[in-house]
Amino acid sequence: MNLCVIGTGYIGLVGAAVFSEWGNNVVGVDIDQAKIDKITAGQMPIYEPGLEEVVLTNIKENRLTFTTDLSQGMKDAEIIFICVGTPQSDSGAADLNAVETVAKQIAQRLDSYKLIVIKSTVPVGTNEYVRELIKQNLKSPVDFDVASNPEFLREGYSVDDMRNPDRTVIGSDSQKALDLLKKLYAHLSTPIVECDFRSAELIKYASNAFLATKISFINEIAQLCDRSGADVSTVAKGMGLDTRIGPRFLQAGIGYGGSCFPKDVAALYKTSTDQAYDFKLLRGVMEVNERQRKFYFNKITKALGKNLSGKTFAVLGLAFKEATDDIRDSVAIEIVRLLRGAGAEIRAFDPAAMENSKAQLGDKGIYYANSIEDSLNGADALCILTPWDEFKQLTPNMLQGLSTKMVFDGRNILDKKEIQDAGLTYFAIGKLTNGSKLIAEKSASSAVLNGKH
Ligand code: UGA
Repeated sequence: MNLCVIGTGYIGLVGAAVFSEWGNNVVGVDIDQAKIDKITAGQMPIYEPGLEEVVLTNIKENRLTFTTDLSQGMKDAEIIFICVGTPQSDSGAADLNAVETVAKQIAQRLDSYKLIVIKSTVPVGTNEYVRELIKQNLKSPVDFDVASNPEFLREGYSVDDMRNPDRTVIGSDSQKALDLLKKLYAHLSTPIVECDFRSAELIKYASNAFLATKISFINEIAQLCDRSGADVSTVAKGMGLDTRIGPRFLQAGIGYGGSCFPKDVAALYKTSTDQAYDFKLLRGVMEVNERQRKFYFNKITKALGKNLSGKTFAVLGLAFKEATDDIRDSVAIEIVRLLRGAGAEIRAFDPAAMENSKAQLGDKGIYYANSIEDSLNGADALCILTPWDEFKQLTPNMLQGLSTKMVFDGRNILDKKEIQDAGLTYFAIGKLTNGSKLIAEKSASSAVLNGKH
């Protein structure tokens, strides 16, 4: 099939590349000439494992081209995919400016039947709204359809997710539109959910919000574990073996971040308040997520004092999660800011997100290390903020140089016993450790000093 994909971000670029791998002729369109030049020259604008190979192979085989000229991109396309960003606006709602602009531009160029598919994450009602917008901006009457086809790609794994989705959701009130999309996805062995526009739009938000709920739920359980002496990893394992619950997204930590969960949960909450419905559970999910990073930071200040000036922290991990260079809404970045705000110096290392972090955080008080070892060199304490596989290989020996011997593991990736047996003080999320005992002792003795006992 001939396809046009508008927007070359995570969804658009990965989508265009994998569509072409399936044998389709795909034109990727973006307004950013420098980005298009880079991609065409084989330099990926994002760090995404496996992406470069699939893009280059399909460019070479003449199935994948890129342009800034929308008319050229649309010319032969049977399906046009809108994959532009829908960032969070001040009200919490998704900002639809880019979708609207692209819809109008498509309308002005439409001269024969085409299916316009929205892959961007958009609130309930947007597909119908976009259809109206296109109708109003057509130069002359022409037949077209609109369909919703939300994406469930995870950054860091998006090429595989695109190739092998758990399910494909297609929503439209036009059978012709649904048939075209079924033809595109016909070779997939996983289910295709055919539905109306609004259900398709809501499936995307409900899925992200549910996953975020799982994370906030396990983070609440971690709080109980901290207080009761249970171990959250064991609790999650025991829960996850129930096939109705499942083991994934039950990793307690410093809370979820990234360009999707925070904005999508907020947008769904805004949609519900716009419908005069108070979605209490979602409010809780967001509050717990905000609180979680503070609990982590408080562990540090309870152990080392509120004034951290004169202390240097090795920080491992800046990206919002592993396998990406993306730092949008990264809780790790937020924690570095909190540490800096308390006067600490930072020696940071991330396998992929160094450049992005430097651009956002600057280098005042922050040394960007070349390796894990370089980050640890001369540091007083360690913060682990992103669960990169590399960090899971840390050995107690590598940590002996920390002057305070304190390890604040925000992602529960180290082996508690191994770390403690080596004489280090370990702080984790939802685990009784020698670090949590130290905090308990400190607060008991300060209560005595303050005459509370
Ligand atoms: C998420 C969804 O997982 C995708 O299905 C969806 O397509 C995408 O948003 C989107 O809407 O575009 P992504 O943002 O790439 O994907 O990242 P996730 O792997 O979902 O992780 C999100 C955050 O939750 C990260 O900060 C991660 O560290 C955190 N997390 C994840 C936990 O704290 N615990 C877990 O158990 C899992």
